[in-house]
Amino acid sequence: MAWQTGEVCPINTEMETTNKMIRDFKTIHSFMVFPEDMNYAGTLFGGKVLAEMDRTALKAARRMLYGTACDGAVTASLDKVDFKRPAHLGDIIELSAQIKKLGRTSIEIYVNVSRENHEGCIETICDATFVFISIKNGKPYPHGCVFGNAPVEFKDQAAIITSSIIHL
Ligand SMILES: CC(C)(COP(=O)(O)OP(=O)(O)OC[C@H]1O[C@@H](n2cnc3c(N)ncnc32)[C@H](O)[C@@H]1OP(=O)(O)O)[C@@H](O)C(=O)NCCC(=O)NCCS
Repeated sequence: MAWQTGEVCPINTEMETTNKMIRDFKTIHSFMVFPEDMNYAGTLFGGKVLAEMDRTALKAARRMLYGTACDGAVTASLDKVDFKRPAHLGDIIELSAQIKKLGRTSIEIYVNVSRENHEGCIETICDATFVFISIKNGKPYPHGCVFGNAPVEFKDQAAIITSSIIHL
């Protein structure tokens, strides 16, 4: 049975290991560069990009946690970010977040950022890997999620989420 994103899976939230299975978990978020997003050199402000990357990764984490016993997730870290290209006024910035690795409470999420200019040319401007931690009552709490390609014995369990690409 395939579950759509947003549906609550019938998992046992009392158990630490819920074995909620996920796959193709990708979240897309976009915005257009407006004047208030610029730095004083006339290009998109890096701090704005970092905040939007964090938001995009958080959306992916939140969706993954639907139906689990966790309250949410917090950003623990992000790796080096190289701003390879500038973005300009009116560019459409698209951010995509993909869950790459799952620990007990950690959720590793890759975020790619691209710009689309006035001619429709699309290119990556930066990317980074974030680590979020699932929490309950303000403390790390096991999310119980595993990837769908985990051992075969989990395949018939109801707790399967199939998430297609989600545009917001
Ligand atoms: C992130 C935080 C919850 C970790 O709490 P903690 O008690 O140190 O965590 P633990 O040592 O019990 O480890 C829990 C998990 O976090 C991971 N972790 C902890 N610090 C980490 C870091 N800096 N980077 C990546 N992973 C980290 C551990 O590897 C572990 O993962 P696992 O469960 O998959 O094995 C805590 O440091 C915190 O609340 N930080 C502030 C978060 C925040 O406010 N973020 C918003 C930005 S200001």
